[in-house]
Amino acid sequence: MKQLTNMNVQIVSDKQAGGQAGFNVFQQAIANGAKVLGLATGSTPVTIYEQLVASDLDFSQLTSVNLDEYVGLNADHPQSYHYFMQHHLFNQKPFANSYVPDGSNLDAAAATHQYDQIIAENPIDLQLLGLGQNGHIGFNEPGTDPESTTHKVALTPSTIAANARFFDDADEVPRYAYSMGIGSILQAKQILIVAYGEAKAAAVAAMIQGPVTPDVPASYLQTHPNVHVILDEAAASQLD
Ligand code: GLP
Repeated sequence: MKQLTNMNVQIVSDKQAGGQAGFNVFQQAIANGAKVLGLATGSTPVTIYEQLVASDLDFSQLTSVNLDEYVGLNADHPQSYHYFMQHHLFNQKPFANSYVPDGSNLDAAAATHQYDQIIAENPIDLQLLGLGQNGHIGFNEPGTDPESTTHKVALTPSTIAANARFFDDADEVPRYAYSMGIGSILQAKQILIVAYGEAKAAAVAAMIQGPVTPDVPASYLQTHPNVHVILDEAAASQLD
């Protein structure tokens, strides 16, 4: 049965149009006073970052808080999410403060506690999310506690395989990550989730129209009052 949802679903022609649509959501949030932006990595947000970089928006008074980071990669490792953010956004558009979980800190209790404090001190106004093929958000894999805060995650084989394309060898993909929890993500005042392509279609349908279940971490977004979804036609193809 189709589940009612509060989500505002916008279907765009392609990633470029999605970048423009996502940019508009950021611009509006900032115009409305957003001070803390929750940012994401992966291929999906890239066109949004291109639009942000090309714009005249000024982030020098804003704070960014990223979702996740691999454990064991230093900030200068080319596949670290620190590096990704520097390359795609922060070098061109510096923020007053930019936070990413510290993947170089192998003391998980300390690293995750420190990040929860950062989130508590910088409540997120707008959180950008991509979507994993298995319905994960951040690195919250199926089965994650919906009330979870920042935690160490053992990546699933499917996520390791999906991310192997960025590494020379699948053996080099880190097996663990630090990720904001589902509970942390749901604290954001507004959420923007973006998905492109056929490979995401089943996860998109489960997120929007399936039951709210730990099997699909993104389905918890149905419980949030202010979620904007940007999809291309392929990602939307399994919606009723
Ligand atoms: C990784 C990231 C997620 C991201 C997902 C999808 O697992 N931790 O935050 O949403 O990949 O990535 P892509 O946008 O490249 O499909």
